[in-house]
Amino acid sequence: MTIKAILIGAGVRGANVYAPYARNHPHQLQFAAVAEPDPVRRTSFAVDYDIPNEHIYEDWREVLQKPRFADAVWICTQDRMHYEVALMALQQGYHVLLEKPISPSPIECLELEEAARKSNRLLTICHVLRYTPFWTGIQNVIESGDIGRVVDIQLRENIGYAHMAHSYVRGNWNNAASASPMILAKSCHDLDLISWLMGEECVRLSSFGSLFHFVKEQAPEGATERCSDGCPHIKSCCYVDQRYYMGEGRRHAQHFSGDLSDQMIRQQLPHTPYGRCVYHCDNDVVDHQNVNLQFGNGATASFSLSAFTHDSSRSVQISGTRGEIRGNMAKQSFTVYSFVDGSSTEIQVEDGGREGTDRMLHEFCEQVEFFTGSSLTSASASLQSHMMAFAAEESRLNNGQCLELGQLIDRYRVEATKNCFYCTV
Ligand SMILES: NC(=O)c1ccc[n+]([C@@H]2O[C@H](COP(=O)([O-])OP(=O)(O)OC[C@H]3O[C@@H](n4cnc5c(N)ncnc54)[C@H](O)[C@@H]3O)[C@@H](O)[C@H]2O)c1
Repeated sequence: MTIKAILIGAGVRGANVYAPYARNHPHQLQFAAVAEPDPVRRTSFAVDYDIPNEHIYEDWREVLQKPRFADAVWICTQDRMHYEVALMALQQGYHVLLEKPISPSPIECLELEEAARKSNRLLTICHVLRYTPFWTGIQNVIESGDIGRVVDIQLRENIGYAHMAHSYVRGNWNNAASASPMILAKSCHDLDLISWLMGEECVRLSSFGSLFHFVKEQAPEGATERCSDGCPHIKSCCYVDQRYYMGEGRRHAQHFSGDLSDQMIRQQLPHTPYGRCVYHCDNDVVDHQNVNLQFGNGATASFSLSAFTHDSSRSVQISGTRGEIRGNMAKQSFTVYSFVDGSSTEIQVEDGGREGTDRMLHEFCEQVEFFTGSSLTSASASLQSHMMAFAAEESRLNNGQCLELGQLIDRYRVEATKNCFYCTV
């Protein structure tokens, strides 16, 4: 069976990262419609995927108001535009693939998870890392019992100074009120991995962190509002806009330009948010944060994220009662140390970059076809890590106060029950 999907939000994730799966697997997946307000993105997607004229929409409401005419909806809009769209798609009887985070509101996360269960539809969250060979490999070792019971996990996310400036200082996720707090926007993936690898409920946590550097007080004297305004620090500043977008960060220029040539980037950059001085933006999300977590069986974990790293990578150390795993995702390799025979085995995984995404989309299509009712990253499976992120943010804002996750979720659940369409019928 060929799954018919509707794409809502033909932006970077929807059109550039996920949709090519349909081109590569036309017998498994076809797009039946697209909703996208940007005329260039909309038209280009409609042409690339042969969308009939009557199913090209400017807004998600137009397509979801129609009686159901496809199997699934892929929601790839910005964080604050997930809840309403997903709720309506579920109400219309669609299976839903939803970008993370489920929502920046804990109450909306609970409501959507409940709505999916009660409507008996798939609501799969794009926690792509769980599907990658690196993290699947680590999970398989834990499941094999080779390292015994997991006692402690340490996970570090190196955001990378340039990536930080792009996404979390100048870009779409720089402000908690218009997008999400950093711990949710960037690190719900990491908390999801910790929760999955631990296989236990988190019971309490505390968190510290702040916006340390990307504030106007740190601007060097005379720094201009935009790099292109004749800033005197253009040679010494590590965050000069053009250097990144015309170098290693070129692919990120797709956030403001369909054409990634030097000429177009040079022309467009000064007129976009990405040309702003990093010390003169409307950002408020943290540039470093730590979270300490305790699980139901007494095991612990710690997570730290930092903008101040030369690359973007993740490293992990997992201590078990019979062995240990140490890994580095950028190197696509991890080593398993056995306390039983003193051996160490290095495992190098093969990942050309699309493996995790392709596996996630393949499994989603299969689940739509042979409806099994749950997925590796269902909303139910992802709820715990989202709640950990909300708790971490609440703790951070309260001077690192230790919070009981169960109590916090109960509090959110009372609110969710008051509002939810599905909880009141
Ligand atoms: N899973 C991951 O690893 C991962 C990585 C990056 C981003 N994300 C998430 O993916 C989501 C999308 O990010 P992106 O980088 O593709 O953003 P984007 O801004 O490139 O894409 C969002 C698209 O939604 C469209 N849109 C806006 N209003 C709309 C409406 N009324 N109807 C239909 N479409 C509408 C926008 O025009 C835009 O093209 C975000 O929630 C983000 O947090 C996930």
